[in-house]
Amino acid sequence: MTKVLLIHGPNLNLLGQREPDVYGKVTIEEINRDVKKEAAKEDITIKIMQSNHEGEIVDAIGKAKDNFEGIIINPAAYTHTSIAIRDAISAAGIPAVEVHLSNIYSREEFRHTSLVAPVALGQISGFGKYSYILAVKAIAKTLKK
Ligand code: DQA
Repeated sequence: MTKVLLIHGPNLNLLGQREPDVYGKVTIEEINRDVKKEAAKEDITIKIMQSNHEGEIVDAIGKAKDNFEGIIINPAAYTHTSIAIRDAISAAGIPAVEVHLSNIYSREEFRHTSLVAPVALGQISGFGKYSYILAVKAIAKTLKK
């Protein structure tokens, strides 16, 4: 079975209550349930974590290459600030798909830069919870090649 790690970054534990005009009413539990369903269809086992702490995310990515074949990550606000997460993804050497619920390019200018995008396999942004579903399909396609 192919194993993939899904990382939700800071404040994504608050989905459902957090800025529903931007992120909708979807909760992290609902996303995780749908992601697991999609992953099962693709014969992928998915481990899911959420952290509000940069170092914890860096540690998880650092360990990922021993246990997982790919990563799906919504780095949330760290997308725009974290060289440490970018370097961890680059060092891991396994494919990573960057995900955003909102279209980061249609929002404030500080969200237009992703430090992670250059080291990601690709980025999916703007499709709400379907961004995650599309990421599962993208990583599945890549790992099956
Ligand atoms: C986000 C977009 C980021 O700019 C923001 O800081 C988030 C969520 C998204 O999924 O749309 O926390 O990554």
